[in-house]
Amino acid sequence: MSKRTIVAMPGDGIGKVVLDEAIRVLNKAGLNADSVEADIGWEFWRSDGNPLPQRTLDLIEKHKIGLFGAITSKPKDEAFEELSPELQEKELVYSSPIVGLRQHFGLDICLRPCRTYKGNPLNFIIRGPNDTIVEPEVDVAIFRQNTEGLYGGVEWTNPPAQVYDALMTHPKFKSNFGNAPVEEVSISTRIFTKKYTERIVRAAFEHAKKYDYKSVTVCEKPNVIRETSGMMYKMAQQIQKADFPGIELWNTNIDAQMMWLTKNPENYGVIVAGNMFGDIVSDGFAGLIGGLGFACSAQYNPETGIGVFEPTHGSAPKYADYPVSIVNPIAMVESSCMMLDFIDEQGIAGKIRNAVAEVVIEGKTKTYDMAKMSGRSDVVEKGAASTTEMADAIIDKL
Ligand code: NAI
Ligand code: MG
Repeated sequence: MSKRTIVAMPGDGIGKVVLDEAIRVLNKAGLNADSVEADIGWEFWRSDGNPLPQRTLDLIEKHKIGLFGAITSKPKDEAFEELSPELQEKELVYSSPIVGLRQHFGLDICLRPCRTYKGNPLNFIIRGPNDTIVEPEVDVAIFRQNTEGLYGGVEWTNPPAQVYDALMTHPKFKSNFGNAPVEEVSISTRIFTKKYTERIVRAAFEHAKKYDYKSVTVCEKPNVIRETSGMMYKMAQQIQKADFPGIELWNTNIDAQMMWLTKNPENYGVIVAGNMFGDIVSDGFAGLIGGLGFACSAQYNPETGIGVFEPTHGSAPKYADYPVSIVNPIAMVESSCMMLDFIDEQGIAGKIRNAVAEVVIEGKTKTYDMAKMSGRSDVVEKGAASTTEMADAIIDKL
């Protein structure tokens, strides 16, 4: 096979530093691939009026695999004010380039694994019987539908007449909202389609089977959101019965799940949810295994083979200008391992994961979050590892 090229999209703020360190780790671990840097984020909104330029889409189309750092998003009005003056006349509207990327390439499957690292000082603990301290071992894989639902972008404030009239034909709309003046009504839709609901549910079951998880939990709210959550749960029942009878199907409501999260997180295996609930439940579990410095993700389209891999954290602008970067690169390094799994380089991925695990359990190298410091610019002087020192420690263990 010809040598792969990875599209590296640093984006804004800390995105660049964590991505550079992850690529250094990949190279030292023996990945034989080139990388090409692609433009995305705030800088390109200001200069081009487009945070996701066509040239970046072309590169991803061509090379199929992207590593993404993080971007900065700001509210509509603020975004407009930061545009260069000649672009301000063009009536451009800012929208998040990472959401745009997911929509453009139909990266409908999002996988966010949350696994406890032994020895991580940030691991969640529970008070057990007789004042003992119990550290539950979390190992969940969250499958989040990534393109539809509440983040599908079908929204209105003061909806146009056809939309409003159509809604008025629904008895619940009429009785609950019919008295509100139309210009005071805001609507964000939650649309699920059968094709993509089936794809995310199947991906969850296939993952459970491949990695020997005993259960798949649908985490939605079918008793209240009957049509969309209901469709996902019903589909999961059919798929389980027909194709995965050996895997248990559980059904939890998102609100209850957020409570159980801190009671019995070790009981869950694979979790599947729509776009927003998947976003919420994955942040919840990430908090149990060390938070944003550890939370990684993959998003891909199984039909085209296009995949983009990114930490779930954002650009952390307040840390972006520190002369020595302090943020934890592990989330980005782990996201790169998910990329390696995707391109069948599991050997290298395993090597890197073992190295990270060794660094964490050894406990000598800790970024400020692991050292439980607040993120000031002097944390390295006070004994925390810098971003680069953490990457060096991982490389030393390879
Ligand atoms: P954030 O994830 O950038 O930072 C929140 C806090 O988490 C930070 O202040 C820091 O304390 C901690 N943190 C984040 N990454 C860390 C790391 N690698 N190591 C250690 N600690 C870390 O979220 P925030 O502050 O809400 O948003 C900042 C910007 O990022 C916004 O413009 C937002 O729109 C954008 N954002 C972008 C995302 C993406 O690119 N996928 C995701 C989330 C937010
Ligand atoms: Mg999120």
